Amino acid sequence: MSINYSEKIPNNVNLASDRKLQRALEHWQPHFLKWWEDQGPSDFAANDVYLRTAVGVDSQGWASYGHVKMPDYRWGIFLADQIPDRKIGFGDYYGQPVWQQVPGELRSQFRRIIVTQGDTEPASVEQQRLLGLTCPSLYDLRNLFQVNVEEGRHLWAMVYLLHCYFGRDGREEAEELLARHSGDSDNPRILGTFNEPISDWLSFFMFTYFTDRDGKFQLKSLAESGFDPLARTCRFMLTEEAHHMFVGETGIGRVIKRSLEVMKELSTDDPATIRSQGAIDLQTIQRYMNFWFTSSLDLFGSEVSSNAASSFATGIKGRPDEEKYDDHICSDATFEIETPDGTENVGMRNAMNEVMRDSYIQDCGIGLKRWNMLIKRAGFDIELYLPSSKFRRSIGSWVGLPVDPHGNLIDQATYDKKLSDWIPTESDRVFVTSLMQKVTAPGKMAGWIAPPDRGINNNAVDYEYVRLN
Ligand SMILES: [Fe+2]
Ligand SMILES: [Fe+2]
Repeated sequence: MSINYSEKIPNNVNLASDRKLQRALEHWQPHFLKWWEDQGPSDFAANDVYLRTAVGVDSQGWASYGHVKMPDYRWGIFLADQIPDRKIGFGDYYGQPVWQQVPGELRSQFRRIIVTQGDTEPASVEQQRLLGLTCPSLYDLRNLFQVNVEEGRHLWAMVYLLHCYFGRDGREEAEELLARHSGDSDNPRILGTFNEPISDWLSFFMFTYFTDRDGKFQLKSLAESGFDPLARTCRFMLTEEAHHMFVGETGIGRVIKRSLEVMKELSTDDPATIRSQGAIDLQTIQRYMNFWFTSSLDLFGSEVSSNAASSFATGIKGRPDEEKYDDHICSDATFEIETPDGTENVGMRNAMNEVMRDSYIQDCGIGLKRWNMLIKRAGFDIELYLPSSKFRRSIGSWVGLPVDPHGNLIDQATYDKKLSDWIPTESDRVFVTSLMQKVTAPGKMAGWIAPPDRGINNNAVDYEYVRLN
């Protein structure tokens, strides 16, 4: 079904046919807009921003572009098309028809998973609220706002499911999604990473590379769900999500490119010299990477988890790209997990978090390869790396242990002393923050970042992506 933009809430779910649901969502809509005004991007509400809006749900030509003021963005409910005769692809119900309603006995598990996913969407908008004030270019400012409005739409996606399939408690949860706030000491967001402030653009690029990619893997596993409306919702969200990771990958790449320009010009890899030229040294970039990568790893949960086993068994959540595996039942298979006491063989279903984390880590490696190629081509003998998944963990069997970024268990004193080499120090943050000066002349870039290779939607890099007057 095509998207209907003539209604108050654009949708492709024939919302008008269910008056009660339509009224409930129209009641939530002003609360969302109020939240956007209070907690969304500061200062730019009156400016025209070159944004894409969904006009369809197939992966080809699904979006249209145009200047729009953010508060006028048409947030709506868009589900990917239904796949006829779709069957559950994993777990105990393998091969059975997918569900169009939530099975009663799985109701609270589904609700928790949808609320947790939904909570991350507005959280990231809140985390990024002030970034526009220090944008390195109009191009980047536009990308930030594109990510923000789409995270807002992802909130709509989850709120639709809550309202449509979970009755009164769903409606209450939808209100709560607007009541919790990132970093709020009384009522914080559910997951740790989403309470970390993102106050500089290097962190923003790290977040969109590492943390949005966690989102990609969560959405991929929910796109496999036996609850078909959830699967369809997540499939369309993935289409939007790709741009967020593009922003992260190209953003980090451009910061590296700029550093390499300075390094080549002065034939040095000395961090202090590079910093004195207003660029960010690769060592600092590595420390930011270590921070956001490890923090994002925790989002997958403990290595061994009965929750994960139950979500797989009951058809709630599959593995990303479930079809690439041979065994979709996994009742006898085992998985080898490294613990501080040695290797352990655990049931595959219990290890699903780890399986997912492994494929996430592989996916993270793709950008690293490209960046290292840039460094190598520039003639420098430095290699960026992903730290070990045992380093700096806040959950699971490695929690709190003094493990170095290469995965070696070391003594606590050495760890404490060396930690400042591995994650950003206060002075790193002060330095990076000092570079964050707003640049808004079309086509101009801040000195710490190279221009992008091309603009958005075939426009030039110096296109007026945000009209400031
Ligand atoms: Fe999202
Ligand atoms: Fe995202």
